This record gives sequence, C-alpha cells and structure tokens, in this order.
Amino acid sequence: YTTSMKKLIIANWKANPESAVKATVLAEKIESATSIYKNADIVIAPPFPFLPLVGDMLSRARLGSQDVWNTEGPYTGMVSPRQLKSLGVAYVIIGHSERRIHAGETDDMIQKKLAGALASGLQAVLCVGETERQGSELSAMVGEQVRTALKSIKKEWLRRLTVVYEPVWAISTMADTAGAATPDTAFRARMYIEKILTSLFGGRASRDVRIIYGGSVTPANITSFLTEGAMDGVLVGKASLDPKKIGEIVRLAASL
Ligand code: 13P
Repeated sequence: YTTSMKKLIIANWKANPESAVKATVLAEKIESATSIYKNADIVIAPPFPFLPLVGDMLSRARLGSQDVWNTEGPYTGMVSPRQLKSLGVAYVIIGHSERRIHAGETDDMIQKKLAGALASGLQAVLCVGETERQGSELSAMVGEQVRTALKSIKKEWLRRLTVVYEPVWAISTMADTAGAATPDTAFRARMYIEKILTSLFGGRASRDVRIIYGGSVTPANITSFLTEGAMDGVLVGKASLDPKKIGEIVRLAASL
C-alpha cells in the first residue's frame, strides 16, 4: 500500500506550555530541529492565544489551531475560520476527543465546524476514534463520527481534508509503550475510513484525503504506523512538546 503524498506531522500542543515566552522558545526549538527535513509537511498547533507569536517563529512549519467555530457573530468564546486565516493559520484541528469529552462537542457541532473551515479554504483535520479498546472489528462509533461530520462536505473540498484515526484509549499513554494502537489496527482503520469515503463521495474520492494516526506516537513507533499502518502521517501530543522527540519523528517520516 503506497500513498504519494508527503507525510503530514502535526504537533498538537494541547493546553501547553504555560506562558507566551515558553511557547516562543518551544516553537523556535522545534523549527530548528525539523526544518532541515524537506520531505514532510509539518504543522504546529499551539493554544489560541499563542498563535500570532508562534506564527512569527515559523518558516518551515505551517501554523495550525486546535479548534474553530464556523463563522463570526454572537458566539462568545468562539473563533471563526477567517479570523484564524488572518493570523496565518493554515490547518485547523476539529473534533479532538478532548473537546468531545471536556467541552461537550457533538458530531453535529463538529459537522458545522468542518463545513465552515473547508468553505473558508482552510485545511481541516477531523479527529475520530472509539472510546473503548476494540477487538478486530472497528467500532461503529468511528463510522458514525465520519459520516455525520462529512454530511455537508463538497467533493471538491476533500483535497483539504485530513482524517485522524485517534482512538481515545491510546491517547496520553506515552509512559506505557503498549499504550498506542498497533499498526495493524491503524491499517484496518484506514480501510474502514476509505470505504466510508468511497460510499459517500464515490470512486477515487478517498485518494484525495489524508488519513493519519494519533495516540502515543513516539520516535520508536512512528515508522511502523507510516509503513505497516499505511498512514499518511501522525498527530502528536506529548512528544511534540519535546523538540528532540518531534525532531526525530519528523526525520523518520521524511526518510521514507
Ligand atoms: P499523545 O501523543 O500525547 O498521546 O496525544 C495524542 C493526541 O491527542 C494528539 O492530538
């Protein structure tokens, strides 16, 4: 199984680090640890308040946000796609499980956000994943998440869509090396998501969409997700806060 696109490595900082100064330093270190590896697409997604500062530090990596709403208006606390674009944001993460869990996001909200982001020309990164570890069958929950999120998506937007298979049980387990999903599970998720894309959009639609993996990605397991797992990239949480680790992850992805 081969895909022709460059691998996509997204650093999701979540609610880290604690200050603007630390965010600037971290962005600078990641930029210098990764910028020599040309054969990969890199995105850094800091918390909203640090977007302008981090954006200023980046030349090689693109700027990403961790969330978005679908428009401007009377939506206290929300941020619109155009506002993000005006700060140089190119990618938006949508429907992360931590937002589903801690901010009560539903598949219907995620659908609105996804349509708003894609309509405005942003690259959208849709996160899906089941909450409980499964047997060999992929959870129907993932199918439901993908189908609902893509309800109002136009076929011509698919080239700006990435779907992340990020099983909730595999997130934040880095201390426990058995915590990540297996490359085989990731591969089966890829097949499952491709089948849904084909059923919704027909023919070769799934070729346009990048399908990546998230959940306890480290320098030790990245290569197996990209090779055996046939993933087009990875969404990295904890390891993306360590310039050495994310540098190594990008180096390995770019060497394939
Ligand atoms: P970890 O890499 O810390 O498990 O986080 C995964 C994740 O949620 C990335 O969005």
